[in-house]
Amino acid sequence: MKRGTTIYLYELAWILPSVAIPVGMLVALLVTSFGAGKHLPGVGGMVDPNKVDTTPPFDRPGVVQVAPGRYEVDMVSQVWSFSPNEIHVPAGSEVDFVATSRDVIHGLFIPKTLTNVMLLPGQIARVHARFDKPGTYPFYCHEYCGMMHHTMAGQIIVEAGGQASPPKGGQ
Ligand code: CUA
Repeated sequence: MKRGTTIYLYELAWILPSVAIPVGMLVALLVTSFGAGKHLPGVGGMVDPNKVDTTPPFDRPGVVQVAPGRYEVDMVSQVWSFSPNEIHVPAGSEVDFVATSRDVIHGLFIPKTLTNVMLLPGQIARVHARFDKPGTYPFYCHEYCGMMHHTMAGQIIVEAGGQASPPKGGQ
C-alpha cells in the first residue's frame, strides 16, 4: 500500500508537468496571437498583377496619413526597384506597408525593424512597423529577382518632429 502510493506520487510528478507544459504553451500562443496581436505576415488580399497600375491603392504608390501618427505606405515592387523608394515619416510613427509585385517574386526587408515579407505577384502583403528613433532605415529586396537584384533597395527617413512624404499625387 505504502509502495503503491509512492509510485503514484512519482508518476504524478511526471504527469503534471507533461500536461502543464503543453497547456502553458497553448495559452502563450493564444495570448500572443489574440491578446498581443503577434501574427505571421498575412495575405492582405489579392490583386491582378497585370492590373496593378490601375488598381487602388497601387495606382498611386506613396505614403498616406490614415490617423495622427499613423501612416500607410502603398508600395509596388518591380525589377529592380520599389515605388516609392524613399519614404519620409515623423519619429514615433506607426506605419503599415501594403505591398505587392507587378512582375516576379520580390521581398521587403527592413533590417532595423521586424519587417520581413515576400512580395508575390497577385498577393497583397501587409506588414506593420513602428519608427521611434529618427534616422535612415534602409530597406532591401531579399528574394533573388534577377541580374540587378542586389541594387533593389530604398530608404525610410524618420525625421525628428519632421514631415511625412508629400501626400499622394502632390509630387
Ligand atoms: Cu527584387 Cu530581388
